[in-house]
Amino acid sequence: MTTRETLAGELTKARDRTLRLVDFDDAELRRQYDPLMSPLVWDLAHIGQQEELWLLRGGNPNRPGLLAPEVDQLYDAFVHSRAARVDLPLLPPTDARNYCATVRGRALDTLEALPDGHPDAFTYALVISHENQHDETMLQALSLRTGAPLLDYGTALPHGRPGLAGSSVLVPGGEFTLGVDAVTEPFSLDNERPAHTVDVPAFRIGRVPVTNAEWKQFIADGGYRESRWWSAAGWAHRQQAGLIAPLYWNADGTRTRFGHAEQIPADEPVQHVTYYEAEAYAAWAGARLPSEIEWEKACAWDPQSRTRRRYPWGAAEPSAALANLGGEALRPAPVGAYPGGASAYGAEQMLGDVWEWTSSPLRPWPGFTPMVYRQYSEPFFEGTASGEYRVLRGGSWAVAAGILRPSFRNWDHPIRRQIFSGVRLAWDA
Ligand code: AVJ
Ligand code: FE
Repeated sequence: MTTRETLAGELTKARDRTLRLVDFDDAELRRQYDPLMSPLVWDLAHIGQQEELWLLRGGNPNRPGLLAPEVDQLYDAFVHSRAARVDLPLLPPTDARNYCATVRGRALDTLEALPDGHPDAFTYALVISHENQHDETMLQALSLRTGAPLLDYGTALPHGRPGLAGSSVLVPGGEFTLGVDAVTEPFSLDNERPAHTVDVPAFRIGRVPVTNAEWKQFIADGGYRESRWWSAAGWAHRQQAGLIAPLYWNADGTRTRFGHAEQIPADEPVQHVTYYEAEAYAAWAGARLPSEIEWEKACAWDPQSRTRRRYPWGAAEPSAALANLGGEALRPAPVGAYPGGASAYGAEQMLGDVWEWTSSPLRPWPGFTPMVYRQYSEPFFEGTASGEYRVLRGGSWAVAAGILRPSFRNWDHPIRRQIFSGVRLAWDA
């Protein structure tokens, strides 16, 4: 397959997914499920607006586009906070759909005319990544929605294997290659580059993510009541927000998400915890969170060949037998569900299932160069005005396989937990 065909296929796949996530009536699409999230119709038009900006307007917001300037700016995420978007004069759902379709038609025409190996292929990949990331954001919104469910329960997942919770694997000390370059990963984003050598002391890392059953022990042992497990900032937040369990957990031992009430599966990775809760759990368990550098080594480094693997399991493209990705399951898989997806060190479920909190603030790798979408990473780096973030790694069940790599970096505020966030422990060795 040519790069052009791959990009056209991924564009179509992302759009099919987006349209399924907005296949609801107009009133539904205009609703604000939670001040943390945009109304779905904002995400929809924003997806089209960004596609038009990067692919049809050369990234120049002053270049005239299909929307009047005062409408175009409604979809600038830096101008309007998520909480405020519901009150904006947004495009009605039908107009938003038509706008996205018009932009897409023209984008596919320009792709058709793109010579093989042209550097602009990257910009298409960026747009594909952007749309899929917003699809995950829309799933976060739908997860918060109460009332009769709009989405089905989700597709079936493989069974787990018993006895893995709490176990760890050793990652011996030594140098490895952190990050990637355009040569090996042409569609990697700016914050994943450049590849460079880093020396990491030996450490142990969880073979699988922390499970709901383990989290219940933390709760039963008073984990949310004892300040000694928490950082000062974490305890202040725990007090102020009144945290007593992961988001969506009910007092009767069930959980309600996407409008479905269900038993909490014991062997499923815990989801919907803040960084502060992750940190407290780790302290209670006699562990700590991995740094994102440790995480990437455990995921991607092959100590035998002293090279990076494209995926934890090797070169094969992600599949339903290797990782839980793509968003159809609507939930993480039980631990042990993907023995074939293990990394060289034996860590499992590093990609998919849950985003894993790391102890790392978001920083540029040495030699960082912003990509065409300059505002994607740079405004969020440590030391900028936008506040404090922690890096999450590995991707959740909601991430599209085509945009994910072991080098992929996500970030959020340490108090956020509507995201599909979980925990993998680490220990000094
Ligand atoms: C990389 C997930 C933190 O949603 O804020 C979407 C991705 N950037 N549109 C976000 C993004 C611009 C970003 N994260
Ligand atoms: Fe965006």
